Amino acid sequence: MPTFKAPKGTRDFYPEDMAVRRRIEDAWRSASIGHGFEEIEGPTFEHLGLYTVKSGDGIVSELFSFRRSGGTDDYALRPEFTPTLARMVAARGGSLPRPIKWFAIPSHFRAERPQRGRLREFFQWNVDMLGLDDPSADAEVLSTGLAALDALGLRPDVATVRLSHRDAVASALEALGVERESMYAAFQLLDRRDKLPPEEFAKKAGDLGLGPDGLAAFDRLARIRRPITVDPAEIAAETGVPVAAFEPMVALREALDDAGVSEWCEWDLGIVRGLAYYTGTVFEVHETGGGERAIAGGCRYDGLVELMGGPPTSAVGFGMGDVVLGLVLRDRGLLDGIEPPRPTVFVLVADDVAERPAARILASLRQAGVHARRSYRATRNVGKLMSEASRAGAGHAVIVGRELEEGMVVVKDLRGGGQETIPVDSLVTMFTGGDDE
Ligand code: HAM
Repeated sequence: MPTFKAPKGTRDFYPEDMAVRRRIEDAWRSASIGHGFEEIEGPTFEHLGLYTVKSGDGIVSELFSFRRSGGTDDYALRPEFTPTLARMVAARGGSLPRPIKWFAIPSHFRAERPQRGRLREFFQWNVDMLGLDDPSADAEVLSTGLAALDALGLRPDVATVRLSHRDAVASALEALGVERESMYAAFQLLDRRDKLPPEEFAKKAGDLGLGPDGLAAFDRLARIRRPITVDPAEIAAETGVPVAAFEPMVALREALDDAGVSEWCEWDLGIVRGLAYYTGTVFEVHETGGGERAIAGGCRYDGLVELMGGPPTSAVGFGMGDVVLGLVLRDRGLLDGIEPPRPTVFVLVADDVAERPAARILASLRQAGVHARRSYRATRNVGKLMSEASRAGAGHAVIVGRELEEGMVVVKDLRGGGQETIPVDSLVTMFTGGDDE
């Protein structure tokens, strides 16, 4: 018989793993709802063209694409959600009330080499706000993400938002001598600067029109990391770039301050992000000083809805994956002790004749909304049954046995100790606190 393993880069979620996943998703969902976002979903696979049109080379090279046997259309499992979201907004044209505030928690598929923090299937919380062309929208999506991190126990000393602004960096690069047409190539170079040998970096910078002075300034710019409270004018002075280039960062800084999230944020002008549809604000959330990959990444993508055939629509959002976040939380003990839901009551059948009454008791508890489980074997060895109830983590055990002849059952408190014999008719009231009609 062949034995099968889960495909490389995928995960099996056993009950205890599901409990952890639910904890993370609950934090995501409640932060979204609390900040006024509504939940959406889309298909797990899309037409291949949706991604080749604008996702960026990195993501396209990692697609799981396929064609139905006998079919002619090409599809791909979704590697990210933003193209689907933009398509959905475009499909409703101008009829959606603005601003549009949506969130989703889809699964994604990327044919990456599996490694720490990178899998081939993962979940990603998406928070997106469209139709409000103002830095307050950038601040609103960011503060939603940070509210979830806070609820999960992370603080600004553990997670940092590194922000940059593509327009500001483009103006700065232009001031250093990079042509407008070469800007995309310049961003790619900025993104890859730490992966390239210095000579290759210098050669590519030269191709962009940067001489030795321009190259040194480019390098200085890429390494700028300052608290968000630093006035962009100081960064201008330091890099020799005219202060006007950093104008877009001033409004962003104010909006983040108004949203009360400045202490989480810092400028990092080396943050570019690989996705080709990004404009304006770009940011990543990282474990402070840690070696993990980004916990989240986001941006403005003002042109994407139009590219999908919709009206011009400003847009900003981020994606936060469950994998890196899970590693950061686990390393800090913040996922310890998370268990699947535990029953309030565990019904024990301590006598063969009690089988059917026990089934009825269980049904009445469940119909009243009480989380009740049962033992599936009947034995007079109550001790054995009791250990089953304890293993299940139940609060109380209800022993259905000989006392039933007098219309009574034994209720044992498994946490506080002690037990009492009560009329079977008052059992539901005991666990609901309500009127037992
Ligand atoms: P992204 O930077 O490609 O952005 O992904 C965002 C986050 O998803 C990453 O920071 C990481 O936590 C997680 N992630 C990405 N790839 C993997 C992987 N192979 N395994 C595990 N986790 C992964 C986007 O996807 C954008 N569409 C986000 C966005 C939403 N921008 C605007 N709105």
